[in-house]
Amino acid sequence: MRSFITFEGIEGCGKTTQIHLLTECLEKRGYKVVTTREPGGTHIGDAIRRILLDSKNIDIDIKTELLLYQAARAQHIKDVIQPSLAQGSIVLCDRFTDATLAYQGYAQDIHQDFIKTLNQYATDNLIPDLTILIDCPVEIGLQRARDRMATHHAAVREDRFEEKSLDFHHAVRLGYLQIAENNSSRFYIVDGREDPASAHRSIQSAVLKMIAA
Ligand code: TMP
Repeated sequence: MRSFITFEGIEGCGKTTQIHLLTECLEKRGYKVVTTREPGGTHIGDAIRRILLDSKNIDIDIKTELLLYQAARAQHIKDVIQPSLAQGSIVLCDRFTDATLAYQGYAQDIHQDFIKTLNQYATDNLIPDLTILIDCPVEIGLQRARDRMATHHAAVREDRFEEKSLDFHHAVRLGYLQIAENNSSRFYIVDGREDPASAHRSIQSAVLKMIAA
């Protein structure tokens, strides 16, 4: 059974921590796990990520932005996701097509059907088997993201999205909740205010149930 699991949520919702905890838990049980992220996951995708998230590029056109996310995704699908799934690995991906629908669609008004068409093109129609949405109030998520940035010394400051308005992040959060409602059989929603250990327990049980099914 194929296991392609994606993690979604606003900035600072706790995806990275949960992916780390889930990876450890699955590897302990003997599963082969590949963790990856979007934008990124390949050297071409990482180069695109640097352009997209650099705060110097605040003037990027929304069409350029949308196409760059999809370009990074096409490379990621071909080089990492499809080969890993074909080898029987469980793939855990930090953001995927739902992020484009939430950030570029719900929050920036690009037509959703157009984004869905581009998503299908970039992914060769690959749809996650399970999507974990870590839902978190915007104020809490952004504070965590700011705290993380204060201790982060990357060569390129990945903070362009954290500089957007509160309204933008609220629209992203509501967008994700709407996408989850529209795709309820694929989504599992976790409360991002929970402590990481208890959020992990509920994610672990949802994932193990899916793998066993
Ligand atoms: P993250 O790796 O810290 O989650 O940052 C990735 C950023 O890129 C985040 O702000 C969400 C944004 N993003 C989009 O706007 N559209 C997309 O399709 C993807 C994958 C990410």
